[in-house]
Amino acid sequence: MNEQRPTTDLTYDDVFLAPVRSGVESRFDVDLSTSDGSGTTLPIVVANMTAVAGRRMAETVARRGGLVVLPQDVAPEAVAEIVSWVKSRHVVWDTPLVLHEGDAVADALNLLPKRAHGAVVIVDDRERPLGVVDERCCTGVDRFARLGEVADRDPVVLPLETKPREVFETLHQRGSDVALAVNGSGELSGIMTRRGALRSEIYTPAVDSSGRLRVAAAVGVSGDVAGKTSALLEAGVDMLVADTAHGHQEKMIAALRAIRSVSPEVPVVAGNVVTAEGVRDLVEAGADVVKVGVGPGAMCTTRMMTGVGRPQFSAVAECAEAAAELGKRIWADGGIRHPRDVALALAAGAASVMVGSWFAGTYESPGDLQRDEHGNAYKESFGMASKRAVTARTRSDSGFDQARKALFEEGISSSRMRLDPNAPGVEDLLDEISSGLRSSCTYAGARTLSEFHDRAVVGIQSAAGFAEGRPLPSGW
Ligand code: XMP
Repeated sequence: MNEQRPTTDLTYDDVFLAPVRSGVESRFDVDLSTSDGSGTTLPIVVANMTAVAGRRMAETVARRGGLVVLPQDVAPEAVAEIVSWVKSRHVVWDTPLVLHEGDAVADALNLLPKRAHGAVVIVDDRERPLGVVDERCCTGVDRFARLGEVADRDPVVLPLETKPREVFETLHQRGSDVALAVNGSGELSGIMTRRGALRSEIYTPAVDSSGRLRVAAAVGVSGDVAGKTSALLEAGVDMLVADTAHGHQEKMIAALRAIRSVSPEVPVVAGNVVTAEGVRDLVEAGADVVKVGVGPGAMCTTRMMTGVGRPQFSAVAECAEAAAELGKRIWADGGIRHPRDVALALAAGAASVMVGSWFAGTYESPGDLQRDEHGNAYKESFGMASKRAVTARTRSDSGFDQARKALFEEGISSSRMRLDPNAPGVEDLLDEISSGLRSSCTYAGARTLSEFHDRAVVGIQSAAGFAEGRPLPSGW
């Protein structure tokens, strides 16, 4: 056995933030913009997991200032199509769900859970809005009834240029839930709820130099990394992520060199590591941001299978310090289950926090909404090293090779992620995270995330101390 690590390492539940004298009076005085080259205005990155990160997630999260990393299992042609779709979205108005008068109520009921705004717009053959259908319109109605018979024919329709504050006031006056936007030709161009209008005044979208929503993609570390890098850059991705469970390995270093041979400029995130040495080696090979986390993920079985990993708070603190010495940043990846975990990761020095499974149970994740035996809505999540993901990734291998690779799974193949009835959309979760984080900053007297890292006072607590902080009845 080699020399043991000399410290007792800690994770998020082991630590707490102490309040310090503060001159920051309002949560709205806090700026949550990042400084890691991701161009985000909220330090939240959605993990490159097939069950979590797709086009609707990418659009929705970027509109609120975060970033989604498209999974490496998506073929470059499909990534190109998704990226161009995301970049064609309006930065303020949400994308409507659209059907026609002759479609059935059942069609609307199937579509409604795809988006949090809860409405399907009925359009004519020139894309002009005729009405709106929501769940109320469909209640107690034959599933085969035509939408033209049940739609609300008098929706709020506004010019696309209308400011969110005015949208809010109009909806408030009319007692309506959603407003539709039309362009100069009267074509449907967007949809906004009252809460969406409010959010648009609070969040700032993450946009590229042309003002379009940002999106990142994972490049993988096997095969033709340079070729895949060129294809992704051609597709217009704003940031590349090269990650594997054990990022501190020769294959990762070779992959980083391959990426850098194609583009010295594109911001590159690499990982995952949990030590200062890992950070230094990946930065030396070309990483701008190092991703930290081995085994904390909700779908991970690595620590139980191998004993390998490191409690996440200590891993983040050590790696962030090592990266800062080189003028670089880190992302804390995995194990985020509450808003407090985000605040603690940033206090430890992370520039952004990566979230996977927590966001799987939302309207915007790619899976279909399902119901359990008690009628609760859920979506399925699975790990990217699970038998299910590995089998899908190795589809073109021989049956034997595919089975052999799937034998060494280190992830959960199926887990039910319940949609929280009080927070069923990813934006509801972003609201919880950002309001918690803004408040943490005011407790620390910080107006920016870098001030927060400098000023945060972190203490260590017992399990009883952590339990004391959980409200009763406990939904947390
Ligand atoms: P959360 O906790 O947010 O973590 O779901 C997301 C991160 O978990 C990692 N990940 C895995 N790790 N086996 C693993 O060991 C897996 O199957 C797996 N799937 C995801 C990954 O780093 C992700 O960003």
